[in-house]
Amino acid sequence: MTGFPNHRPRRLRTTPAMRRLVAETRVHPASLVLPMFVREGLDAPREVASMPGVVQHTRDSLRKAVASAARSGIGGVMLFGIPAQRDASGSGGIDPDGILNTAIADVVSEVGDSLVVMSDLCLDEFTDHGHCGVLDAAGRVDNDATLERYAEMARAQAEAGAHMLGASGMMDGQVGRVRAALDVAGHTDTAILAYAAKYASACFGPFRDAVESALEGDRRTYQQDPANLRESLREVDLDVAEGADVVMVKPALPYLDVVAAVADRVTVPVAAYQVSGEYAMVEAAAANGWLDRERMIVETLTSIRRAGAELICTYWAEEAAQLVRDAY
Ligand code: PBG
Repeated sequence: MTGFPNHRPRRLRTTPAMRRLVAETRVHPASLVLPMFVREGLDAPREVASMPGVVQHTRDSLRKAVASAARSGIGGVMLFGIPAQRDASGSGGIDPDGILNTAIADVVSEVGDSLVVMSDLCLDEFTDHGHCGVLDAAGRVDNDATLERYAEMARAQAEAGAHMLGASGMMDGQVGRVRAALDVAGHTDTAILAYAAKYASACFGPFRDAVESALEGDRRTYQQDPANLRESLREVDLDVAEGADVVMVKPALPYLDVVAAVADRVTVPVAAYQVSGEYAMVEAAAANGWLDRERMIVETLTSIRRAGAELICTYWAEEAAQLVRDAY
């Protein structure tokens, strides 16, 4: 008697060993990047209320945390600095003695090149108005004046030893301007991670808490409208043409269609940023007993990888390094 059904896909799901054997997607710890915050003037690490488990580091606690992150086997760290003082032009980001530039040097001296040390190349943590660029007389973000600030900031970060700069400000021409500034200064090996497709997202809420953002209003005149996909492809094409080494889509989970479309289109590595709000949603639900936290971490990271991202920035990176090892 012929069996029906003839095709039984369930055969390949019978045991953990069978499932592991046929898994199409695996997340490797080396593809995870841990974003970290360092705040000027702190005596001890300070919890970020809306991101349980994430802290603002002191320079000292950052060094220790980075050494621990390196031991976990992750691929890199992404550093964000919070200065004690802010001004209209964000000069703390350019000052070689500013908190981010000194922290880059600390971290590089701690881990050398055993981790890829990335730094946020944007003015919003350093400006007293909280925008990602400088403002013109009418209070609008001045694209081209901002590019000159990014060029100086890029040089300072490269001089501090950063291996890859995260151009996250969404100004037109930022990748080309930063590439030129780096090359002129002899930093031809300093890579650029372009936040090519960055959406004006509500998912950044907890991050603004983490960096004590001064922003009032929103970033909709420079970050993208969540409604648009083809616009992301245009942004990605421009960034690749300007010399981006890696292109990023951000946030990740609500934009997996964008990750997939970008991965189809480009030949440079694709990154995705599982942002603060994505982290906070899972942590909050898990704290209520509504979700299985560890399964959610592995499932979301696997989905981002499946959509086509080679690199994933995630606040869970260090813990997830072990979870993804255990999962596959
Ligand atoms: C800009 C920057 C932001 C994030 C990373 N780089 C904030 C913003 O655009 O408002 C958000 C990251 C997150 O939400 O985890 N410097």
